[in-house]
Amino acid sequence: MFADRVLSGMRPTGNLHLGHYHGVLKNWVALQQQYECLFFVADWHALTTHYDAPEIIERSAWDMVIDWLAAGVDPAKAVLFIQSKVPAHAELYLLLSMMTPLGWLERVPTYKDQQEKLSEKDLSTYGFLGYPLLQSADILIYRANRVPVGEDQAPHIEFTREICRRFNHIYGKEVGFEEKAQAAIKKLGSKKSRLYIELRTRYQEQGDEHALAEAKSLLEEQQNLSMGDQERLYGYLEGGGKMILCEPETLLTKASRMPGLDGQKMSKSYNNTISLREDADSVRKKIRTMPTDPARVRRTDPGNPEVCPVWQFHLIYSDDEIRDWVQQGCRSASIGCLDCKSPVIDRVLAEQEPMHDRARMYEEDPVLVRNIIADGCEKANQLAEETMRDIRAAMGLDYS
Ligand code: TRP
Ligand code: SF4
Repeated sequence: MFADRVLSGMRPTGNLHLGHYHGVLKNWVALQQQYECLFFVADWHALTTHYDAPEIIERSAWDMVIDWLAAGVDPAKAVLFIQSKVPAHAELYLLLSMMTPLGWLERVPTYKDQQEKLSEKDLSTYGFLGYPLLQSADILIYRANRVPVGEDQAPHIEFTREICRRFNHIYGKEVGFEEKAQAAIKKLGSKKSRLYIELRTRYQEQGDEHALAEAKSLLEEQQNLSMGDQERLYGYLEGGGKMILCEPETLLTKASRMPGLDGQKMSKSYNNTISLREDADSVRKKIRTMPTDPARVRRTDPGNPEVCPVWQFHLIYSDDEIRDWVQQGCRSASIGCLDCKSPVIDRVLAEQEPMHDRARMYEEDPVLVRNIIADGCEKANQLAEETMRDIRAAMGLDYS
């Protein structure tokens, strides 16, 4: 009923690194070829955990957008914007809060998990409890049906689906829905309206899924129905009311096991990262000083790649030929660790080169980035406003 639309956000809480590139950004770049995409800086979400460190938000936000652009996110293909520049997110968050059971929020697994994990911070705040609901507002306000996120975020999308259903259930029953639906059926013309009614009956009385699918595609083809009538007829098919909000689906991003310099997962908190736009000398130095198999004390001691963080990098960056060379050379001590690291250094630098190239003009002229974001915010505001009109009307706030 609603066109495919992808939305995802990222919190500006520090430098992006190669883990973000392999885990998230490569995926965004692929998605923008295929779908209408909206990507945004989740600055309000950053404040839920960093409310006492506002100084990092703005700086990280601009750096992060440059990192996106460097990775190949294309402002001609995707809408890039900043959450707090689209105030309707906050309005929807407030309106949704009216009908959100407290227990649902308390039961979201990330709530307790993160509180325990970030125990040095006081996260028993109203804002932190509301984190998933703010995320729901981000998604529902664009009627985005595909949300690319990692495993850890899946419960938030599930929560959003539940909020969506509850909202449609409570507010989708507009006054006179039945009559309006009947009137809309007439507008289909006599042949098609007969078919619609027949398919609806078959679905509702016999649970015939084919009939449902056929009826939906019948509606899809209708050019002359208003959006409102079309939505009513979709809703009427399944017995409910009008579908005001659209249930999003998770586009699960494959968990990329991007290792850090020490073999643990690459993460800012482990201090084992290579930044997306790190300069070449620093990258060389970091990889040259990476720990290796501790058994290789001397150059003549054989080693075992399976226990070496450098091997993890070969798994990401090297082809079979180089991997064979590493396996044999390491186990027979015919290569040294610096030899072994050299192709990794080359591949990482080669990966980063186009990113540096793309970033250069934005680094030199910050106005370009400001303009991209201003543009994206304007588009996002327009799209958000379309949904907000329906939501306000459904909630009795349509003053005219
Ligand atoms: N919570 C997400 C994260 O930490 C960021 C985010 C905020 C988001 N709003 C969103 C992701 C909406 C997808 C859709 O990664
Ligand atoms: Fe690790 Fe390569 Fe040294 Fe073996 S040769 S220990 S795989 S860096």
